[in-house]
Amino acid sequence: MRKINQLLSAFLFCVSLSAVAQQSYLTAPGVAVFYPQDYDAAAHSPSPIFEQDLAPVGNVPSSWKIRPMYSVQDGKNVVRIPVDADADLYGGGEVWGPLRRNGKTIQFFNIDTPCYGVDGGSHLYQSHPWVFGLRKDGTAFGIIADNTWKSEMTTDAEVVFRSEGPAFRVVIIEKESPEALMQALVQHTGTMPLPPLWSLGYQQCRYSYHPDTRVKEIADTLRHYQIPSDVIWMDIHYMDQYKIFTWHPEEFSKPKELNDYLHSLNFKSVYMIDPGVKAQKGYWVDDQLMQNGYAVLDENDKPFVGKVWPGDCHFPDFTRPEVRSWWSTLYPPFMAQGVDGIWNDMNEPSVFGGPAGTMPMTNKHLGGDGLRADSHLRYHNVYGLNMVRASRQGLLLANPDKRPFILSRSNFLGGHRYAATWTGDNYSNWEQFMASIPMSITLGLSGQPFNGPDIGGFCGDSNAKLVANWTAVGVYFPFVRNHCIDGGRAQEPWAFDQQTLDVCRTAINRRYRLMPYIYTLFQEASVNGMPVMRPVFMADAKDASLRAEQKAFMLGADLLVLPRWAGDAQLPQGDWDIIPFEAADDGFQPYVALRPGAIVPMANLYQNTTEMRTDSLTLLVNPDAEGVAAGTLYEDAGDGFQFRHGQYAQYSIKAQTVGKKITVSLSKADGKLAEKSRTLRVGIVSDGKITYSPWTAGSEVTMKVAPDKQQGIDKNKLTFPQVPE
Ligand code: GLC
Repeated sequence: MRKINQLLSAFLFCVSLSAVAQQSYLTAPGVAVFYPQDYDAAAHSPSPIFEQDLAPVGNVPSSWKIRPMYSVQDGKNVVRIPVDADADLYGGGEVWGPLRRNGKTIQFFNIDTPCYGVDGGSHLYQSHPWVFGLRKDGTAFGIIADNTWKSEMTTDAEVVFRSEGPAFRVVIIEKESPEALMQALVQHTGTMPLPPLWSLGYQQCRYSYHPDTRVKEIADTLRHYQIPSDVIWMDIHYMDQYKIFTWHPEEFSKPKELNDYLHSLNFKSVYMIDPGVKAQKGYWVDDQLMQNGYAVLDENDKPFVGKVWPGDCHFPDFTRPEVRSWWSTLYPPFMAQGVDGIWNDMNEPSVFGGPAGTMPMTNKHLGGDGLRADSHLRYHNVYGLNMVRASRQGLLLANPDKRPFILSRSNFLGGHRYAATWTGDNYSNWEQFMASIPMSITLGLSGQPFNGPDIGGFCGDSNAKLVANWTAVGVYFPFVRNHCIDGGRAQEPWAFDQQTLDVCRTAINRRYRLMPYIYTLFQEASVNGMPVMRPVFMADAKDASLRAEQKAFMLGADLLVLPRWAGDAQLPQGDWDIIPFEAADDGFQPYVALRPGAIVPMANLYQNTTEMRTDSLTLLVNPDAEGVAAGTLYEDAGDGFQFRHGQYAQYSIKAQTVGKKITVSLSKADGKLAEKSRTLRVGIVSDGKITYSPWTAGSEVTMKVAPDKQQGIDKNKLTFPQVPE
């Protein structure tokens, strides 16, 4: 009896500390927002996560399953959200570790973490307070913690957020499928703007190519070896004493000439801009920052000073609209030198020797436009987001008719509206190569479709086998850039041996040939938020065996990528067929399988996206059991915004079998761009072979089709020669 009494009083104690949400409403069908008691709106809004604030459209029905419970523990605001115990949980953005996140805890505290070495990888450069849940029956739910304050998330039968800031709102989404969940997420957070086509090409980087003659040499070498490529990157050495928006007086004395040279070879240039402004009287950027009083302040209201590459730096306070506007004005003269894209790095912000590698949490940001002045504890995680928001404004100011391309290391849930991302300073080893697959998938499931790792690995020396394997698989990621550390061994495709060069070239050729499909996927992501790179479970959300698969992955809905070291991968049921690409098997290229019922458009080979032509297309078709297949092709100018005024063409591709003949047709379904006259070739993918039709002028091809004997991927017929080290 005493025991029962004790239990009862413990229970009552818990209940008295926990509280259900005070207010809740629907913001869309299947999307509910819950508020804590005494919600302090000024401590959280306007939220950087949502494109528009969450307006009520109805009441939360009493049958609503997932509801947050609010409490305070050890001085922290805690939200506990019981979810289905057998659900598989994903999300959290940029995370180290497995794809399936059940039983994991991560910190939401953006840090500079060289080689993911800090705090065992429990937090990285970005924070995405978002859970993607998948029930056994294939229905899905999502949870957003609308909170930028330093916090922590545990994903288990109870999802728990512990925050160092005031109590916050929680958004719960209930949908019938993973696809519907993603669409509901972006309905609230906004979609990624359509990037320029060139940013989907292969990109070559290192810390750093310098002087300018070396940059030209890299461009020449890519063309010499016929490695299709679109972008050369300039890391910090192009600057004068690492001062942003300046040029090194000797090594990069003629930036316009350098960029003109790159453009003459159909390359684009991307340049690094960090947030730290060298604290130096007479340096115009710092003078403007100081004279206007635009810097982040320390606890004594003095401009905060912290060290980054240039030594002592001041940091713009990007929470302030006037600072973002000022920052945007720095870009036009810089971009006028022929700069095509911007790389915003060190924006956690990284402060060498600072507490936890950043600035003190007592630093002050002044806010504005409805955003309250508050501590760095609140704004730390969105320093990067607000920076890229300002940079995007700057790129649009510089070139209003071009699509901005910005790559950012730090960001926050919702920041995909401003910048693409790469996953920071990984290490040149197999563990990190393999981990890049779940990491990139997770970013995609967290609303950031445009992402990828440093191919070959950043820290340490890479090697031939790793670069060959990483490139062979990396070309199917959304963002494809080879990058390495200062002083590290060279790791361009030609830096090792003939075999590595050949493997890389074959892989990159394949990406370029698949570009019409890949660009169509990016357009889809820009409209409905579907990730470009997807987990295999999205091929069949009811198949429980696929839920933890993280070696194989999908590129869009139609292609399945199976690395040559992933013989134990779980694959979806159905008659997926491996595409026998034209080059001989080199043992490195992953198997790429086409979904039954899918059609994927492919271009002929070319060396850069400026040269891409789609007037001659190969349509890869894998007819389903009824002999039917379908696909889409999206086309526009590849840059600029005319597509917003209808200057695009969306084609529907259809295949129909009658008797022993299949007819494949391409017809315009939408858009004002005139239909192209084309030559088509159909490739029927079946039983490990491709049967091609002759090249045919027009928009329809009819050819003989043989019955498909094999059903699905037979792993016994495949080889997995690559062994992870
Ligand atoms: C950071 C970046 C890395 C870059 C280096 C120098 O470590 O993550 O990509 O090369 O800074 O700018």
